[in-house]
Amino acid sequence: MIVPSAYYRPLALGAPAPFREPPVRVERMIHFVPPHVEKIRARAGDLARQVDVVLGNLEDAVPADAKEAARSGFIEMAKATDFGAAGLWIRMNALDSPWALDDVIEIVGAVGSKLDVIMLPKVEGSWDIHYLDRLLAQLEARHNIERPIMIHAILETAQGVMNVEEIAAASPRMHGMSLGPADLAASRRMKTTRVGGGHPGYGVLTDKGEDGAARPFYQQDLWHYTIAKMVDACAANNIKPFYGPFGDFSDGDACESQFRNAFLMGCVGAWTLHPSQVEIAKRVFSPDVEEVKFAKRIVDAMPDGTGAVMLDGKMQDDATWKQAKVIVDLARQIADREPELAERYGL
Ligand code: GLV
Ligand code: MG
Repeated sequence: MIVPSAYYRPLALGAPAPFREPPVRVERMIHFVPPHVEKIRARAGDLARQVDVVLGNLEDAVPADAKEAARSGFIEMAKATDFGAAGLWIRMNALDSPWALDDVIEIVGAVGSKLDVIMLPKVEGSWDIHYLDRLLAQLEARHNIERPIMIHAILETAQGVMNVEEIAAASPRMHGMSLGPADLAASRRMKTTRVGGGHPGYGVLTDKGEDGAARPFYQQDLWHYTIAKMVDACAANNIKPFYGPFGDFSDGDACESQFRNAFLMGCVGAWTLHPSQVEIAKRVFSPDVEEVKFAKRIVDAMPDGTGAVMLDGKMQDDATWKQAKVIVDLARQIADREPELAERYGL
């Protein structure tokens, strides 16, 4: 157990002090790029103007014989590109893989000052976070990195889901967490080969009617329980929950509906693996214009956030004021990045 007075102590002499409040950033989509592909690296600057986060993927989907090329390609891309307001992340290889140690040592050594977040796959428990936390502190100290590199866990094993609360609370270096539905499905022995989204077989059949009428079947969300559990663990620890990948690039509607469920439940963003998903994520994870306007009316009507007022026949009190503030604060952050939306929000 870490005693409270030690929680924010740097884990290596000379490492920067951990954040006490996470940096405020809009991260509606974490856009995955394969850094071993030269053509993609060359377009990284353009991409950074269109997405909130550029992530160099070193893990799954990169073939074993391209792992070193992906790592060195990422370093080259990070050095050559101005990412502007976009975040720069990597997804490193899993801690039990032969590439993990060099991923961290080489990338932090070469471009650690530009790197915002390391996404750590297949996190099983707080021990995985503690290991990377200490290693990062040692490397930050060695390379005079002044701002802590944060850790984002992928929730994609049954054991990880079991330990989600201790993972979320493991370190002040925790940025957030993403659902990894493909690996999680395999780990749980779920019977689906899809990457995220629903399944036509998972649903509820309505009761038998008197007259033998057709019985509608309603598909349910396979990921509801896990997302809810992840959102609670993240919200309680003031870190950010994300939906992960949606693998069927041909079904934008299903992607949008899955992202929207996650957004409504508290997630702040999702992964985008294909350019067509970027607009979807922008649309879903930027709050609705009418919702923002109404939320702003609630905040304005109760300047100190207490008491009760009626707006359009709806009761508002301290709790709805807090709900409204979540929406207005998010809209303000997005408005800072997107003048067109700022105008529509009236901010
Ligand atoms: C993502 O990494 C997943 O396994 O879904
Ligand atoms: Mg995975």
